[in-house]
Amino acid sequence: MKADTELRFAQAKKHRQALFKKLKNNSVALLSAATLKTRSHDTEYSYRQHSDFYYLSGFVEDQAMLALIKRPAGNKVVLFCQPKDKTKEIWSGILTGPDAAVGQLHIDEAWPIGELDQRMPALIDGSERVYYSIGQDAALDTRVSMWVNDLRARTRQGARAPVQFEMLDPLVHEMRLFKDAAEVKLMQKAADISARAHCRAMLAARDGLYEYHLEAELQHEFISSGARFPAYNSIVAAGANACILHYIENNKPLRDGDLVLIDAGCEYEYYAADITRTFPVSGKFSKEQKALYDIVLKAQLKAIDAIKPGVAWDEPHNITVRVITEGLVELGLLKGNIKKLIADGAYRDFYMHRAGHWLGIDVHDAGSYLKGDKWRPYEAGMVTTIEPGIYVSPDNKKVAKKWRGIGIRIEDDVLVTRNGNRVLTHAVPKTTKEIEALMAGRQ
Ligand code: GLY
Ligand code: MN
Ligand code: MN
Repeated sequence: MKADTELRFAQAKKHRQALFKKLKNNSVALLSAATLKTRSHDTEYSYRQHSDFYYLSGFVEDQAMLALIKRPAGNKVVLFCQPKDKTKEIWSGILTGPDAAVGQLHIDEAWPIGELDQRMPALIDGSERVYYSIGQDAALDTRVSMWVNDLRARTRQGARAPVQFEMLDPLVHEMRLFKDAAEVKLMQKAADISARAHCRAMLAARDGLYEYHLEAELQHEFISSGARFPAYNSIVAAGANACILHYIENNKPLRDGDLVLIDAGCEYEYYAADITRTFPVSGKFSKEQKALYDIVLKAQLKAIDAIKPGVAWDEPHNITVRVITEGLVELGLLKGNIKKLIADGAYRDFYMHRAGHWLGIDVHDAGSYLKGDKWRPYEAGMVTTIEPGIYVSPDNKKVAKKWRGIGIRIEDDVLVTRNGNRVLTHAVPKTTKEIEALMAGRQ
């Protein structure tokens, strides 16, 4: 087995052991692999494992199910997966099969997925509580009910049906929020590849190309670095397209005088990076572009600076709101008293999203943002993005024409450390000076 595959299975085992500690005695946790989705006729989308299933198994095949059984006498991990199948393997690749899965995944038992309905009631039997995230897969919900009903129907023969259900995902998501050293290493690798991709796109930009030419540069760097897929659809937005927050058409021309906003990050070994940079096609910011850019940059740097254990989740967001409102007033795009503009949400015409989100196996990663009814404090091991922006709609008649159609976002990935934070995505130029210097080196 390749070293990274071994690491993945060892990590998953660690995660299962931690989860077992959180499960109540005499319980079972059930979760399923993602299903393969049809793209057209008989071709499928590239398969991507369900994030929680991956976190707890490391297993990347479809048609699989995991049962984690906790008893006073000890824990048991049971996998159901596709059996070895010579014909299928000739067409679509090697399957692990139950026999090999036991050793490779460090689990106790594995069975062919075709035996799921027959074996599952016996595995659930004796569990007072079932941890299962209902509502994600209606067909599976029905099957789980069927297994429980099977036990209910046989209580006179001594079957012990569960008496409680609990959602599994809040437990797993709280764990996923905290990244250990091995996870941070993968996230740093995803960040480094993505940083190189952004530099490559900056260097390739020129008048007359199309947005998709820059997307191709990103893809090239991702794939040739071993990251086959972006963590989300890459946004390459020239000119006023940058004011569409999730613009993914990427099919318009790049024009001298315009900015390009690129929001792109790869997924490396199931961990995401998420970077945004905004730069001029010509390699030189105009006066207006630079003025707005420097406000976003100031907001972003101040917000990052505030991140350390104990600080509330929304503090960096509040900082970005303050700096952006002050900056817009200074430039005349907003008028009035800063406090009142903030209280009234006047900045939302220009800055309509929050400053960040958790980052990990999912780009908008799992994990609660609240503790009780308050924003939770940062703790070491969390990773968040910080991504303020200013977007002046081309239709905004309330501001001078020279500002209209400018959209800017700057986004980095920030690991909370014991004493402060570390920016994982520092390798992409960020100040206007750094960006202009890099782009001056274009052929
Ligand atoms: N790329 C999605 C986001 O930045 O949240
Ligand atoms: Mn983001
Ligand atoms: Mn992003």
